[in-house]
Amino acid sequence: MSQEFSTTKAFVTGWPITHSKSPALHGFWLDQLGINGSYEPLAVAPENFKIFIDEFVQQGFAGGNVTIPHKEAAFQLVEKTDEIANLLGAVNTLWNEDGVVQGTNTDAYGFTANLDDNASGWREGTTAIVLGAGGASRAVIQAILDVGYSNVHIVNRTQSRAHALADRFGERCNPHKWEALDELMSDTNFLVNTTSLGMAGGGDAPIINVEPLPAKAIVTDIVYSPLITPLLASAQARGLKTVDGLGMLLHQAVPGFEKWFGARPEVTEKLRQYVLGASNSQGTQT
Ligand code: ATR
Repeated sequence: MSQEFSTTKAFVTGWPITHSKSPALHGFWLDQLGINGSYEPLAVAPENFKIFIDEFVQQGFAGGNVTIPHKEAAFQLVEKTDEIANLLGAVNTLWNEDGVVQGTNTDAYGFTANLDDNASGWREGTTAIVLGAGGASRAVIQAILDVGYSNVHIVNRTQSRAHALADRFGERCNPHKWEALDELMSDTNFLVNTTSLGMAGGGDAPIINVEPLPAKAIVTDIVYSPLITPLLASAQARGLKTVDGLGMLLHQAVPGFEKWFGARPEVTEKLRQYVLGASNSQGTQT
């Protein structure tokens, strides 16, 4: 087959992978841009992940996305990682460059681009609260530090995790207990939820009282199902500026698509509506 008729193949791998919205998202761009390519979900069990990394290039893939639970393993296994992947200790985007499997992490980029798109004033803030200290919080903390915030309060149920993250990210970050929230909020420009609280199917979420936040505070949630989480709903009821988490999912996909398929796709309202309509998904993940 001549080169011009060959199909460029990419994947998203996780375990399980049935909930992923990424195939719908990349499929939309492939259609829209008229690219002869494919993007398929591949369920790979943790015990088979190393073999998968070793073999995906031979199987004809240009690269792909990595989601739960493989992001940390991917970081360990790929031959070359860039600065942001090293900072986060996790990889969500893989590609083959001259026979070398490379990895980056586009979650911090996705978070920043979503806020820039929908609440550009977030860059002027100085003090942020990040709820949660799990894997997803790392990219968020890095993004907030990168735009220049001087204080990032990490609030988490399990104190040891909040302390570990504050140690990792340095002196602008401080760990706190959940009970400290009310007091911290009164002096905060920006509140981000990175916990699974409020996620569809996640059970009854503890109510987060947003009353102490200043009137100009911006509130965002990286959970996108439901699109309006209980936190965003209560912030909206108070008249605060809110940004939902779907845009982070859409924007984090842009750099990978460009690497594999050679065209930089756009995040548009049409894409958003299309992905919202795609069934079978939940949560915060690729
Ligand atoms: P991820 O890697 O996707 O962030 P995770 O590592 O399981 O997932 O982290 C989930 C986050 O949600 C954690 O901050 C977790 O708090 P703990 O570190 O104390 O477990 C938080 N979380 C989940 N359920 C919670 C609940 N009912 N109350 C408070 N925090 C909760």
